[in-house]
Amino acid sequence: MFNDYTFSIIKPNSVRTGKTGPILAMINEAGFQIAAMKMIRLTKDQAESFYDIHKGKPFFNDLIDFMTSGPVVVMILKHDNAVESFRHLIGSTDPAKAEEGTIRHEFAVNVQMNAIHGSDSPENADRESHFFFSRVEVFGME
Ligand code: RTP
Ligand code: MG
Repeated sequence: MFNDYTFSIIKPNSVRTGKTGPILAMINEAGFQIAAMKMIRLTKDQAESFYDIHKGKPFFNDLIDFMTSGPVVVMILKHDNAVESFRHLIGSTDPAKAEEGTIRHEFAVNVQMNAIHGSDSPENADRESHFFFSRVEVFGME
């Protein structure tokens, strides 16, 4: 079950511009099931903790400002080989390099406002899922 789940955030630029529905449609069409989902606004502390691996990098402060700039949709997604499959669906970090048909190609504005987050390893998917969801909020996880 470990590698069947990944964690995702629909980022503030997507929520603000009404792209939550179209992004969820692409996720469903790609065969992912939603195991947990909610809309929240990240505090500065939460955003800093979530992205602590990027602390000290030149883009860190801008990343935190952006991720706290409005509500986001956080979710746990189920699929075979979920982490890799989902990274494939979202495309490259820089939308200029994201392939056609990927979520970032369709909805990202630039490298910062890149529409969506996807975990980069099963370990991080687990850590990130537990950061935002308690057991009773997650469906289909035994
Ligand atoms: P994410 O964690 O949000 O899914 O994005 P990612 O794995 O594709 O990229 P990552 O390296 O984890 O970077 C996290 C976020 O930081 C911003 N970033 N800006 N050169 C830059 O200006 C730069 N590099 C990264 C992006 O918003 C990226 O999503
Ligand atoms: Mg990342």
